[in-house]
Parts: sequence; C-alpha cells; structure tokens
Amino acid sequence: MIHVTATESDAIRVIEAEAIPDRYARGWHCLGLAEKFKDGKPHTVNAFGQKLVVFCGEDGKINVLDAYCRHLGGDLSKGTVKGNEIACPFHDWRWGGDGRCKKIPYSRRVPLRARTAAWPTMEQDKLLFIWNDPEGNPPPPEVTIPRIKGVGQEDWTDWLWTETIVHTNCREIIDNVVDMAHFFYVHYSFPVYFKNIFEGHIATQIMKGKSRPDIAKPDADGNKMLGNTSVASYYGPSFMIDELTYHYEGFDLESVLINSHYPIDQNSFVLHSGIIVQRHPKLKGDAAEKVAQRLSRFILKGFEQDIEIWRHKARIDNPLLCEEDGPVYQLRRWYQQFYVDVADVTPEMTDRFEYEIDTTRPVEAWTREAEENLARQKAAAQGQPA
Ligand code: FES
Ligand SMILES: [Fe+2]
Repeated sequence: MIHVTATESDAIRVIEAEAIPDRYARGWHCLGLAEKFKDGKPHTVNAFGQKLVVFCGEDGKINVLDAYCRHLGGDLSKGTVKGNEIACPFHDWRWGGDGRCKKIPYSRRVPLRARTAAWPTMEQDKLLFIWNDPEGNPPPPEVTIPRIKGVGQEDWTDWLWTETIVHTNCREIIDNVVDMAHFFYVHYSFPVYFKNIFEGHIATQIMKGKSRPDIAKPDADGNKMLGNTSVASYYGPSFMIDELTYHYEGFDLESVLINSHYPIDQNSFVLHSGIIVQRHPKLKGDAAEKVAQRLSRFILKGFEQDIEIWRHKARIDNPLLCEEDGPVYQLRRWYQQFYVDVADVTPEMTDRFEYEIDTTRPVEAWTREAEENLARQKAAAQGQPA
C-alpha cells in the first residue's frame, strides 16, 4: 500500500459553494423601457421569486403590485386597468398603486387591512425602476440612479434596448466587474488598463482597450477604430451605466451602454442591454444609428459568450486567483451589502477600495497571442499551413 501525505502546496484545492441565499437584493432594479408599460394594459413581471403586476393608470403613473389578489388569489396581471386602479379579473376588486383596495363594486365597504404589497417605482431617462427591499423600507434619497447624459437629446440616438433570460444566479454577472482576463478570452477584446473602485453602493470598473489586429475590421465608413475607454459603474446591485468612448483615427465617439438585470428567482434573471450613441459630426447620415446597432449586436454577442460560460460553469465561493486577476473577494464583499439588513451593513462592504491590475504581463502575452493568430490567418488565406 502506498501512503501519500499531502503537503500544503500539493493538497487538492476544493471548490466551495454554499447554498444560494433565499433573499433578493435591496436596491433599484430596472424593468426596461417605461413606454412598454404604458399601453393601458396590465403586464406580468416575474421578479424576486414572485409574480408582479405592472400597470399604468390614467394619471400616467406606473405602479407595481404583487400580482395575486388578496381576495381569493386572482391574477391581477390578467385583469383590466380601470381609472388609476387595477381591477381583478375574478370579482372586480379595485387595487390602487399604493397597494390598497379602493373599491369593491358589489360591496358596501372595503374590509379593513385590504392592503397588498406594492413596490416603489421611479421613471427616469425613459426607464422604469422598482425598489426592492426585503425589510420594506422606502428608498433612501442618496441611494439613487444618476441621470444618464444623452438620453432624449437631439444629438444622441434613442435607446436601443434588448432583453434576454439567463438561467443562472445573478452573482455570476456581477463577477464580470473585476474579471479583466475574460474580456480577452471570452469577448475577444484587449484590455491594456484595468482598475476597480468600490465605494458605498457604487462599484466601478475602468478599462482601456485596444483593437485586436486578429479581430478588428474597419467600419463601413472606413473609420479605423484604435481602441476604447470604458468607465462602468454599478449603482446598487443590478444597474450598470457604462460610459464608453470609442477612439477612432482623428476623433472620439461617445456612447452609453446599460447593462442591467433583475432576478426572476435564484436560478434565473432577466438581462437587459441599452445603448445610446452620440451623433458625431464626423459620422454621416444615419451612421450613429448604425454604430448603435453594431454596438448592440456586439453587446448581445458578448452576453451570448458570457451565457455559454455560465451554462456550464460551477458556482464557486473560493476562487483561486493569480496576481493579474481583479479583486473578486472585495467585490463580493461590496455586493453582500445588498443581501443583509441595513443595520448589518459593515464598513468593509462600503469603504472605499481601489485596485489597479498590473497589466504588463497580460499585455505581453496577449500581444504575442494576437500576432500568432494573425500570422495563422494570413497563412490560411494564402492556403498554406501555419
Ligand atoms: S380574487 Fe380578486 S377580486 Fe376576487
Ligand atoms: Fe463578460
């Protein structure tokens, strides 16, 4: 019999993963373009492990309630908007946006305690947000979503918005905030600078990238893209605003990209992307729209690339990191603030934290890899084996 004694360095690393918490994040969550909910009909939204009804009253205010009627459980999202209230399809009880039953047409009186769950809503920059808080408190004024420059401006395109359902827990998408290396391997971009800043309810990723010679092609107008600068911040647990500047030969083009999600349940979420692009004088005709469309396709492809990874990967609480990885553990501590009671938020979750990755080694390795790819592509184009 052979006995093997594992020393510290040759012990097998075990993947740890606790059960996913049965709690949903506190914070503002975007449900998409507000316009979609203003058609006078109730909408079903599955979020936070529940079914919700979203409806817009005659007064133009969008309301969100638990979809199940407190009378006998009818589904309000299959009901009818009457005035400023949602009428249940079962016995016509009328529920207001504040969650209170306003009227029962066949009854003299509304019973006491006729109140259901209502989510605070906010309409801003043509988007609908709802505030989720397991403790039931209203949103503190300092925890908000900043206004997005460019929205509704003449010299910017309108929102190009997409929605996709993803079948995994939403922590996976948050990890992307600190994951520089996957941008090269999964998304075919080429980061050359990468920094994170976490503070309060905001987590920022600053990334500069250059075009990959083995991937990039000039755009339809022949403008050569040199690289990009991205400053992307999560405001709370689920809504990221990315100010993305593309550097072309001779000019810069600004765009804003939204990457947001809301949980359906613990194993799925709805992932949104939104894009607006500046109509730069250097761009002719509808070129800004075209850039937006191309960017949107690029983002959707990026989502598909991430989704393919998530579909097969394991949840891991103790990732094994190298020096050139970003601060995954610190990011997850930041993210944890949204899953505990306000009273239990600790300074280590919200204190300012900054970390810049030394990109010397990755840039060397990726330059070599891109050159090798390019040589192989050229050889293949000439019909020769590389
Ligand atoms: S179940 Fe809604 S009115 Fe009866
Ligand atoms: Fe990604």
